[in-house]
Amino acid sequence: MKNDQGSVQSHDHIANSYDDQTREYGWYGHEILFGMCFEYISSNSKLLDIGIGTGLSSSLFANAGLEIYGIDGSVEMLHICKTKNIAKELKQYDLNDLPLPYSNSLFQHVISCGVFHFIGDLEPIFRDVSRIIKPGGFFSFTVKAENYDRKIDYSQTNDMYYSERSPEGVEVFAHRKQYIKSLLQLCHLEELKEQLFLVQNAQENNYSTFSAHVVKYKK
Ligand SMILES: C[S@@+](CC[C@H](N)C(=O)[O-])C[C@H]1O[C@@H](n2cnc3c(N)ncnc32)[C@H](O)[C@@H]1O
Repeated sequence: MKNDQGSVQSHDHIANSYDDQTREYGWYGHEILFGMCFEYISSNSKLLDIGIGTGLSSSLFANAGLEIYGIDGSVEMLHICKTKNIAKELKQYDLNDLPLPYSNSLFQHVISCGVFHFIGDLEPIFRDVSRIIKPGGFFSFTVKAENYDRKIDYSQTNDMYYSERSPEGVEVFAHRKQYIKSLLQLCHLEELKEQLFLVQNAQENNYSTFSAHVVKYKK
């Protein structure tokens, strides 16, 4: 049996094969998110990528001319990202250690793709995103959504999220739609777009449901 491990440690282990693995497993969350954001982006605006990893998402925005700032806990993922030369600045940082190390109203765009399913209570990070984003700026992210096509029998469950262990032993959270909606309202974030999509699980013959969101900071 594999040992339970943290989300950062697990990404340190797979960093070298991460980009290939995403293709193998059919994860195109970054392309979905980029497509949904496309009408709102303009070159030279500042974008923070929370959990930038190897830069799969940010490389699309960098190609479109945005100035990329990235933050991630994994030294190995950041190392690969650096070799792609897409970011103006990369920081190694634990996302549980809030506030994030950025000044108020710094970014026109904040994105986080494939990261929030490693965090249960999203309220602290959503509150902090609304601090560092410019008024009228955009926040685009994915969460693992409730699975509509199979019965849920998870160990931890409440009215905000529930969790299970991945085959690698990492705790993975699915967030309830109503919880995300209430967080957006709390943080003055207006939903512009939401898209559900299916992802085939790596070592199981079934699918997880994710949702991609584009929201606007109203203040
Ligand atoms: C599935 S990868 C997604 C990477 C990238 N956003 C993309 O679109 O490909 C998740 C990333 O979140 C980072 N991460 C997960 N939990 C974290 C935490 N508590 N603090 C900092 N980074 C974390 C991991 O190191 C990893 O790089």
